Amino acid sequence: MNILRFADLCAQGKTQGQRVFIRADLNVPFDDHGHISEDTRIRASVPCIQMALAAGAAVMVTSHLGRPTEGEFKPEDSLAPVAKRLGELLGREVPVMANWVGGVQVAPGHVVMLENCRVNKGEKKNSEELARQMAALCDIYVNDAFGTAHRAEGTTYGIAQFAPIACAGPLLSAEIDAISKALANPKRPLAAIVAGSKVSTKLTILQALAKNVDQLIVGGGIANTFMLAAGLKIGKSLAEPDLVGEAKAVIAAMKARGAEVPIPTDVVCAKSFGADAPATVKQAHEVADDDLILDIGPDTAARLAAQLKSAGTIVWNGPMGVFEFAAFENGTKVVAHAIADSAAFSIAGGGDTLAAIAKYGIESKIGYISTGGGAFLEVLEGKTLPAFEILMKRAAA
Ligand code: 3PG
Repeated sequence: MNILRFADLCAQGKTQGQRVFIRADLNVPFDDHGHISEDTRIRASVPCIQMALAAGAAVMVTSHLGRPTEGEFKPEDSLAPVAKRLGELLGREVPVMANWVGGVQVAPGHVVMLENCRVNKGEKKNSEELARQMAALCDIYVNDAFGTAHRAEGTTYGIAQFAPIACAGPLLSAEIDAISKALANPKRPLAAIVAGSKVSTKLTILQALAKNVDQLIVGGGIANTFMLAAGLKIGKSLAEPDLVGEAKAVIAAMKARGAEVPIPTDVVCAKSFGADAPATVKQAHEVADDDLILDIGPDTAARLAAQLKSAGTIVWNGPMGVFEFAAFENGTKVVAHAIADSAAFSIAGGGDTLAAIAKYGIESKIGYISTGGGAFLEVLEGKTLPAFEILMKRAAA
């Protein structure tokens, strides 16, 4: 992907004394006591900020937090707790500035956090007036917010149109590189795991991947709908019978390319949904009318693990079953370890997938873990994300 990279500008000494505006994605979850419960995105934003500071830039960093009402700042919208955590990670204080659109004072070698950008009127709808005002604050605009790359908003798109220079930060660059390696120029066989509860939320992904991958492994409620499509009974399991036609079309599209959608041959069932519900392993054709399928069976898991061993590239989104409950975690666990042990380049993304990776302690064995939720899914759909599109346009101009 032809885009300007911030690391190159720094290496060329083009950032010394420059006003650098970094759009990060610091949209992190909070617990009931108002504490940050997971700080991956803050940690992932540190290299770009450090790079800018080390290169002698005057650094502004902003992000959205949640979905606030524009023009109505509330205390819970504040990035102050994020700035505090960022300060701990950077080993320096990160002051927070409100009402910053009209002007920002920051000296070279210093960093300031610009308060929640989604509180600014016109951010969501990408108002040109706001974009021009923000662009005037900087000499270099850096997009390092992959998690928000699928949004064409003021700080992800508009400012990139009007800033003197617009480039990708190291996190966005790494995401682009990993995605290209996995989907544009994959080492084959290319296996994709698309799992989770509903076909409807991932249908466009399944359809897009069916044109590219060699194996399309389905799991969770999605696999139940594919089992229906294969003529199997699934009892009272979660499924979307009205999408059986679409599932059949995906299977047919894969078959026509000599590729496959492996259908579970055994499953783990329960009579009710719960951590203590007794689990029974059944052959796929033995599922009873009152059964709930809560995981793929051990034979299916072992077969998939063997297939993943010989993959060249693996794209992973979604758990195979209800891995939060010990009795129904085997499928996800086996597949997770197979991905970790495979020599394939692997890329994983999505909230549940990241939780599974953390649960099985395999972070270091995944080729690339994406910080994107919705953005990662849109990439899998084959879309060009707005943040990439504008950076490519600017690089070509
Ligand atoms: C996310 O959490 O997926 C990103 O920060 C994007 O947030 P949004 O869906 O509110 O745009």
